[in-house]
Order: sequence, then C-alpha cells, then structure tokens
Amino acid sequence: MTSIVVLGSTNMDLVAYVGRAPARGETVTGRDFRTVPGGKGANQAVAAARAGAEVSMIGAVGADDFGTRLRAALEHSGVDTDLLRTAEGPSGTAHIVVDDEGGNAIVVIPGANGTVTSLDHGDEALIATADALLLQLELPLPVVVEGARTARGLGVRTVLTPAPARPLPPELLAATDLLVPNEHEAAALTGLTDPAAAAQALLKEVPEVVVTLGAAGCLYAARGAEPVTVPAPRVQAVDTTAAGDTFVGALAVALAEERPVPRALAWASAAAALSVQRPGASTSMPYRSEIDTAAAGLEAGSA
Ligand code: RIB
Repeated sequence: MTSIVVLGSTNMDLVAYVGRAPARGETVTGRDFRTVPGGKGANQAVAAARAGAEVSMIGAVGADDFGTRLRAALEHSGVDTDLLRTAEGPSGTAHIVVDDEGGNAIVVIPGANGTVTSLDHGDEALIATADALLLQLELPLPVVVEGARTARGLGVRTVLTPAPARPLPPELLAATDLLVPNEHEAAALTGLTDPAAAAQALLKEVPEVVVTLGAAGCLYAARGAEPVTVPAPRVQAVDTTAAGDTFVGALAVALAEERPVPRALAWASAAAALSVQRPGASTSMPYRSEIDTAAAGLEAGSA
C-alpha cells in the first residue's frame, strides 16, 4: 500500500459563514459558525488517507480540548498519530471567514505548531518508510528544511506546498522534488503573474511544479517535458477552504501509485472539486471511491 508521511500543522478552524467578508472597521452579521479540524498538514494527511494511502502525521497539537479533538479527527480518518506530539499550551487555530461565493480569508495562530522546531526521535525512521513526504509552511521553517533534507537523503520524494506564501530558502528548494503553489504563491515566489511563466521560472529551482489555478484547473511543468494543463470540473463551490490541500493529498497518492501525470492531475482535480462542494476543511474531503466515480464521470464526459 502507498505510504505517505506528512510533516505539518494541525489547527482547529473557527469558521464564520457570512454573505460577504467585513471591510476594515466594519461589523457584519454572519449566518453560521462551525469548528472544523483543519491545518494544512492535517488536511493533506486526511486527504491522502481518504484517497487510499497509509498515512502518518508528524507535528503537534496543544494540551487542550482542541488538541484532543484534532488528534481524534485524524485517527477517525485512519491517520497514524503515534509521532504527533502533544505540546504544552494551546493548539493552533485558524480564524476563517467564508463568503457566499465560497471564498475565504484566514488568520492562523500557530499555537502548538510553533513548538515543532526539529525532528524528534523516530521521525527519521518513519520518513524512511514513506513513498512521499508532504510539507507546507505552517511549521517553523527550520523543521520544514530539516524534514525535506532528511527525506531527500533517504531517497523519499518531497512534495512542498509553499503556503502561507513566504520567501523560500535555497536549501529548501534544493531538497524539493515537487512544488505545488497556487497561482498567487507562484507569483509571490517568482514575481511573474503568468502561471506558465512562473512555473518555467520555478523549474530552475525544482524538477517538477504544479501550479493550481482554482476553478481554472492546474498546470504541470517538469524539466525537459511539455507542460500539461488540466481543467477543473465545473461545480458550484460552497467553501473552497482546503481545496488545495485535498488536491495535494490526492495527487501524492496518485503519483505514488505511478499513474501517468495527466491522469494523476485529473484524479486530484476531481478530489478538489468534490471538496469545494462541501463545507469545512477536513470534513469536506472525499473518499477514494467518490474520487474514482467523479473522475470516471469526467473521463466519460470528455470521451
Ligand atoms: O489550507 C486550509 C487550511 O489553512 C485551513 O484548514 C486552516 O487551518 C489553515 O491552516
């Protein structure tokens, strides 16, 4: 079975659903509030587990009620949490406003995620067993770099989501096999607003890039190969939170299963399209059978 390890964040998402997000200084009345397990790392772990992989999570929850619930939510989706620490103090939280078009704005308070500053006993041995290590930028940068370099040294494929956007140290890019920015992160990293040009520029740093384009799909570029563009299924989005995490989790599974890149991209796009039709982060993620059905429908539609 495909084995994925995630080194990343866990947050409790505190989500306000509202017609439109308030402007600075404005108060608006929303229509719903939910607490939903999230965090870019945990989301990718859940997405990969539901997509059919054996998944383990390295990171930290706080010693609070949120921490208990975040760990339980991961375990409920089949994610192994043996190496998920429990740190003193609060869990990470994400304060999210979702508007009527499904768009969102997020403030993250790192909490326990900030205590994960280096790999711990057992982490390296776990990473050694993986087909891929998934990384994002919601843990302190030194441990992200350490994780990527450790995986690279072990011959384990590294998949980096450069979010939240920030400048990346050369040693992290040098240890990244597949970089998956959205179009805004790709622009922030390169200064180029054209995603295809940004992807080509990023190929100077990493061997493979996927730029996610929201409702417009995604663009894959690799050194020495023709770029591949995959459209996104047309769906009515109710909440786009964690669509990118769903895409990455499913893509990592499909690539580890050695599916051809265009099919892997289409399968991951089908997963992300399913997730945006449901509210919440981890709660919105589809199971493998649902992705298979949706992807088959798309293939039949385009045949
Ligand atoms: O990518 C979506 C995630 O970003 C949310 O679940 C939230 O926790 C923030 O980390």
